[in-house]
Amino acid sequence: MSNSAVRPYAGRRVLLGISGGIASYKSAWLARLLTKAGADVDVVMTRSALEFVGAVTFEALTGREVHTGLFDAGRALDHVKLARAADAIVIAPATADLMARAATGQANDLLTACLLAAEAPVLMVPAMNDRMWSHAQTQHNVTHLRSLGYTVLQPDAGMLAAGEGAGPGRMPEPETIFAYVGRLLETDRRLAGRRVLVTAGPTRESIDPVRFLSNRSTGKMGVALAASAWRRGADVTLVAGPLAVAVPVGVDQEHVETTQEMRDAVERHIAAADVLVMCAAPSDYRAAEPAERKMKKTGASRNVQLVETPDILLSTKSARRAGSVIVGFALETDDELANARRKLETKDVDMVVLNSAREPDAGFGAETNRVTILRRGSASPDELPLLSKRAVADLILDRVAELLDGR
Ligand code: C5P
Repeated sequence: MSNSAVRPYAGRRVLLGISGGIASYKSAWLARLLTKAGADVDVVMTRSALEFVGAVTFEALTGREVHTGLFDAGRALDHVKLARAADAIVIAPATADLMARAATGQANDLLTACLLAAEAPVLMVPAMNDRMWSHAQTQHNVTHLRSLGYTVLQPDAGMLAAGEGAGPGRMPEPETIFAYVGRLLETDRRLAGRRVLVTAGPTRESIDPVRFLSNRSTGKMGVALAASAWRRGADVTLVAGPLAVAVPVGVDQEHVETTQEMRDAVERHIAAADVLVMCAAPSDYRAAEPAERKMKKTGASRNVQLVETPDILLSTKSARRAGSVIVGFALETDDELANARRKLETKDVDMVVLNSAREPDAGFGAETNRVTILRRGSASPDELPLLSKRAVADLILDRVAELLDGR
């Protein structure tokens, strides 16, 4: 797999600020995730953070020096250098005190001084007791920080330290924070503010109350597309059948079971969508009359009559938004290119992404994919090499952004 897939943030520098809350034990995992993704992570800890976790932990995880003091010998200009070098700043946990100081422009320690000297985008991840979070003063500070352009995450609800409280106050999980940092680091903003509708996964059609007709789709490719579109700043809705993978951070999911339900969900969202990527593998057939009770063995063979389900792309066509970009997928076992090219016309789409059903390491369930992209009006198909599904998603969205720009 290419280096950019394994270490997507290689060469990017992230300032990870840690203030003094018990949630800082989770920041060690965040530092690890960012470092593993290739980022150079400069950790800046407040004095109270050092009461909870040791600087050595972060030094070992990031392989870099950890910064703590504004007035350490020879370090007088650290705040300016660190702030300038950062491509993104994330403060996790951000305590009520840290946010109050940041909201009033104080610079009385290295972390707040860095914030004032920085031009990079800032993400604050609050973590505190639920009553401290809901206090009017804290909420006032949060509103002000947001008005400065900082992204302030909503804390999670659930058990707080020592079983105290249950309202919002918990720091979101490191994987969630990591995804938001990815959004801050993204340089391609062509999809920012666009509405992207993605379908993913298989659908299920009941034969009887316990059995269903479905296919081998896991939803990985659609989920990768939804994640990439969100990272690039889009508002993303994912209409998905049963998925074998987690729904990405930031994406609104609508869960469906049958092809008819998927069609209805697409119809509800399509008028607002600038982009539809129809990556799902909806079942083309359903049982004409699903049995109401479990079918028992009788010793004889049995027929189940199948009827066709609606074609989602075609039956929602009239509701498409003017100027929207529509992407279909194709998975063929024979005459792949000719069948895929025909689909551009019959399904009235701008692009068809052809997956091969036969290739090892591509298609259903794989982490990688090899696709060929056919574009309307373009004679030569675009054959991509074997890539991670994330890289394939990025390349599909590059072409979507080009089409959107031209409309
Ligand atoms: O018709 P076929 O399944 O080969 O075409 C594939 C494309 O059509 C995919 O984008 C798929 O999501 C979409 N599709 C659809 N409605 C169906 C079946 C497939 O929109 N009932």
